[in-house]
Amino acid sequence: MNNDIGVIGLSVMGTNLALNMADNGYKVSVFNRTTSVVDEVASKYEKLTPTYSIESFVNSLKKPRAVFLMVKSGKPVDLLIEQLIEVLDEGDIIIDGGNSFYKDTIRRDKYLKEKGINFLGVGVSGGEEGARFGPAIMPGGDESSYGRVKDIFENISAKAYGEPCCKFVSKDGSGHYLKMIHNGIEYADMQMITEIYTLLKHVGKMDNDEIQKVFEEWNKGELESYLIEITAEILKVKTDEGVYLLDKILDTASQKGTGKWVNMEALELGIDVSVITAAINARFMSSIKSERIKASNIIDSNVNSVSIDKEALVELAKNSLYVAKIVAYAQGLKLMVEASKKYDWNIDLSELVKIFRGGCIIRARFLNDISKAFKDSGEVDNLIMTEFFYNEINSRLKDLRKLVSASVNEGIPVTAMSAALGYIDSYRTSDSGANLIQAQRDYFGAHTFEMTDKEGHFHYDWTGNNE
Ligand code: 6PG
Repeated sequence: MNNDIGVIGLSVMGTNLALNMADNGYKVSVFNRTTSVVDEVASKYEKLTPTYSIESFVNSLKKPRAVFLMVKSGKPVDLLIEQLIEVLDEGDIIIDGGNSFYKDTIRRDKYLKEKGINFLGVGVSGGEEGARFGPAIMPGGDESSYGRVKDIFENISAKAYGEPCCKFVSKDGSGHYLKMIHNGIEYADMQMITEIYTLLKHVGKMDNDEIQKVFEEWNKGELESYLIEITAEILKVKTDEGVYLLDKILDTASQKGTGKWVNMEALELGIDVSVITAAINARFMSSIKSERIKASNIIDSNVNSVSIDKEALVELAKNSLYVAKIVAYAQGLKLMVEASKKYDWNIDLSELVKIFRGGCIIRARFLNDISKAFKDSGEVDNLIMTEFFYNEINSRLKDLRKLVSASVNEGIPVTAMSAALGYIDSYRTSDSGANLIQAQRDYFGAHTFEMTDKEGHFHYDWTGNNE
């Protein structure tokens, strides 16, 4: 047999990716540790070649072999790699398409290089549907090995503006890093949409039907995105009893961890990703439901009611969401740039953000503007500093202020939107107040400070006790 590629791990994602490859004319071998799963898949899909041992799987592939792993991140990937090392030949390629932590990818890349095996750490986004009909793909690792699978990846990926949503990111863990950034932005986007839904519901006193129409309308303009689209769909669904399913769903959000990684990374690199952090914290807070119920009976719930008509609120919400969204993307992408400097990835953001224009969860109309803004501006420190986006922000910032202030007065937590506003205000401040922090540090720890009118580091004897 001389199959083009093999997929190990036949969960929904793995099976759908294999089928997508087969639809695109590739001969695909499949393998799963639990062989009954292989039987099940083989009986449903004749176009996939089932294999029942790692040896027969490997022997069914043409050389250099391309082995695509779609298994749970963490230990299962390492265990499979150990098994594959035994049966693969020098020059073969292992591709990890799961949501792996990028530091694991860097470690595996190094380890496999020593064994003469090539490795690609590939971010794949788009859920089940994306995997089957066109995901966004973020390959990182050895560029020459990527050449072996480039056509396959580009053909199976989503297409946007006539281009595949698949671009080589850079070496070692860069592909998984970009996927991690994607997920951080995904969390932020979801949280901000949720805050708007809560505001329209509680401040605007709008019912699900009215809110549904708002999201549907927004999806025709600058906010057009997959997450707004599915929100409008979700708001339509009723149970057999005729009640909105959304109203029956428990308000505690789960998470698998990739959003958390963004925060850990941001802390390590000293980058403010406050909107993403707020989104993660909001999930933590949502999960302590019984504590929240207790607190709701104890903590003062008196608020300052704001009088605002529905139409005005919807307009404020729309402009605010757009500005806050720009900030979330700006923060995530800034982290990507810092990581690129640290790991020497030498990325081109204007090209890489094109991956997100289709197939993935954060796909949105304005990603094309982001790509263009980076391209037109050359080297910029922050998306916010590109001409297109600072004009967009400046024309709507007052609305974000009004919305956040209305929410604060009404006692509705909009922590991600507030974080976005706080970030802009911190960013545009030339006089930050951190002089006081420096003075305090010097007072209690003689940590020294710099001065505005002379060079050097100074210490002041604040208490007069050190003479
Ligand atoms: C994607 C998603 C996906 C992620 C889920 C669940 O791009 O297809 O990011 O990879 O695993 O969205 O994430 P949480 O369980 O952490 O919400």
